[in-house]
Amino acid sequence: MIDLRSDTVTRPSAAMLQAMVSAPLGDDVMGDDPTVIQLQVAVAERAGKAAGLFFPSGTQSNLAALMAHCDRGDEYLVGQLAHTYKYEGGGAAVLGSIQPQPIEHAEDGSLPLEKLAAAVKPLGDAHFARTRLLALENTFHGKLIPAAYIQAATDWARGQGLGTHLDGARVFNAAVASGKPLADMCRPFDSVSICFSKGLGAPVGSVLVGSQELIARAHRWRKMLGGGLRQSGVLAAACLYALAHNVDRLADDHENARALAEGLRAIPGVKVLSQDTNMLFVEFEPSRCEALTAALAKDDIQMRAVYGGPTRLVTHLDVSADDVRRVVQAVARHLA
Ligand SMILES: Cc1ncc(COP(=O)(O)O)c(C=O)c1O
Repeated sequence: MIDLRSDTVTRPSAAMLQAMVSAPLGDDVMGDDPTVIQLQVAVAERAGKAAGLFFPSGTQSNLAALMAHCDRGDEYLVGQLAHTYKYEGGGAAVLGSIQPQPIEHAEDGSLPLEKLAAAVKPLGDAHFARTRLLALENTFHGKLIPAAYIQAATDWARGQGLGTHLDGARVFNAAVASGKPLADMCRPFDSVSICFSKGLGAPVGSVLVGSQELIARAHRWRKMLGGGLRQSGVLAAACLYALAHNVDRLADDHENARALAEGLRAIPGVKVLSQDTNMLFVEFEPSRCEALTAALAKDDIQMRAVYGGPTRLVTHLDVSADDVRRVVQAVARHLA
């Protein structure tokens, strides 16, 4: 089966599973799971931050971060299509009592500074929520957000007295694509949520990094959100394995996505809208979408060709260069 729906679909390799079963364990709610501690220290160090905290999911890590930055009745500035705003069930508002202020994205995924500035509410006026935080995402729908923009936006936020958070679910893709160390991608932000269950191939796990004070606040929220796990070293071991073995190879996923885009571009009835890092957005001839999805499924290729809209295709650990050739041939055959 070639599954192009997301990079979250990877299965743990035999070596990763072995690392999980042989991990030394403790009780992480009591703070003594050695494997969780090792992961938190390793990720914080690599990200250039003082502390790290293990979470079962990126959604919970982002939410605890937003709650650590903002109090009840505060507001955060966030992209209209950002994961924390659009795809996390409205958790910031529902569970955090934090008002999101969505901002329309520019073509490159950034949030224009003039739009951000216009959205900041006057302090000390009881009519308004207090604007407290700017949250960005990198990569954003596969796009590498320009480093100069990130610097300018976070400098601006600091000038306004706002905190800064990065949803770095795929920040390792950003680091590999830009040829920079992880710490360079994280430096402009007060907190970064990093996922291990996307391109890095772990079954679950995220680490939130930031200052000791911020992580201490997030730790309390994690407990309240039900994210305090006991022998979670068994999960952290998968993340440590991914950190050691699966980071540099993200470049292969980016190259496979580029090859997939090139192959599909040559097929009549397919329009490649964009390709960045490990993601492509493609439009198929609308009348063929349903039949194409069904025909590919029979070839053991999973993707959902979206009628009249962009279809997202994602490369990952379980998609090889040969698989990419197979997909291109299959799409060409079915659309011929
Ligand atoms: C950009 C981004 N942020 C956060 C998340 C949430 O991660 P999780 O599925 O582990 O909750 C995802 C999940 O796909 C994501 O794509």
